[in-house]
Amino acid sequence: MAVTKAVIPAAGLGTRFLPATKATPKEMLPVVDKPAIQYVVEEAARAGLDDVLIVTGRNKKSLEDHFDRAVELEETLAAKGDRDKLALVQQASAIATVHYVRQGDPKGLGHAVLAAAPHVGDQAFAVLLGDDLIDARDPLLETMLALQEREGGSVIALMEVPKDSISLYGCAAVEGAEGDVVRITGLVEKPAVADAPSNLAVLGRYVLSPTVFGLLRTTAPGHGGEIQITDALQGLIDVEPVHGVVFRGRRYDTGDRLDYLKAVVQLAADREDLGPPLLSWLREWLPEQP
Ligand code: UTP
Repeated sequence: MAVTKAVIPAAGLGTRFLPATKATPKEMLPVVDKPAIQYVVEEAARAGLDDVLIVTGRNKKSLEDHFDRAVELEETLAAKGDRDKLALVQQASAIATVHYVRQGDPKGLGHAVLAAAPHVGDQAFAVLLGDDLIDARDPLLETMLALQEREGGSVIALMEVPKDSISLYGCAAVEGAEGDVVRITGLVEKPAVADAPSNLAVLGRYVLSPTVFGLLRTTAPGHGGEIQITDALQGLIDVEPVHGVVFRGRRYDTGDRLDYLKAVVQLAADREDLGPPLLSWLREWLPEQP
């Protein structure tokens, strides 16, 4: 059965981005001129997943408002004849059918995914982290969905990272590489560098079999006292095939301040309207820096 549903966890506390995230979910921080999560919903829709469930936490109102109609604003823009801005406002509410579920206590990513179980039901589904952007020019989700359709089981996106930074990520033990596809034989959350089985880090895209829900229900809190998706996926490996796709394209972690700044600059530099003036200012400004 083809995957139709995408789950976007967006209930984390975003503590790395305080105080900006005190009253705003980090997924709503603007990347150039769109909130990060809009890029993620667009990515799901591009891959054919137009049933999107956002797992929300506190401060969910701005998220819901963003993907809803904004009648008053739309009427004002229409009255002014500002069609371009009107289109931008309307676009966000037309990307996909967006549903919401509350996580309650933010007990970890695994716990957030489990909150999606009633909506997802007994079918494979995609998980896209709401603060993790994949450049639209480097398709990843489509590749993962095609692999899951062919092989069944689950598919996890991986990326190569310098070995000494692997302890910031979930890490995969793999075998049998065929191009960028590997068979995952083990997963460990944020291992010490010396214990890491590879330099392949788990990034924020998954296509999961519904078997994961049963495993999440019995997964005890792990690293950081949180219910980790990585721990449940380790259990999945024992019962079903789990493949990895090694992603070599552009990816931006907007939950991290430095990566966020890089994302804004890179994506703005690529834009026709903002790129040329931004780059010419940067060229003038950089040589003046100590
Ligand atoms: P992170 O670990 O990056 O989110 O989770 P965080 O805990 O908000 O970050 P910091 O370290 O405090 O800054 C990755 C994704 O999982 C979601 C987050 O919203 C983010 O999209 N998440 C995490 C949840 O939905 N619920 C949780 O309990 C934890």
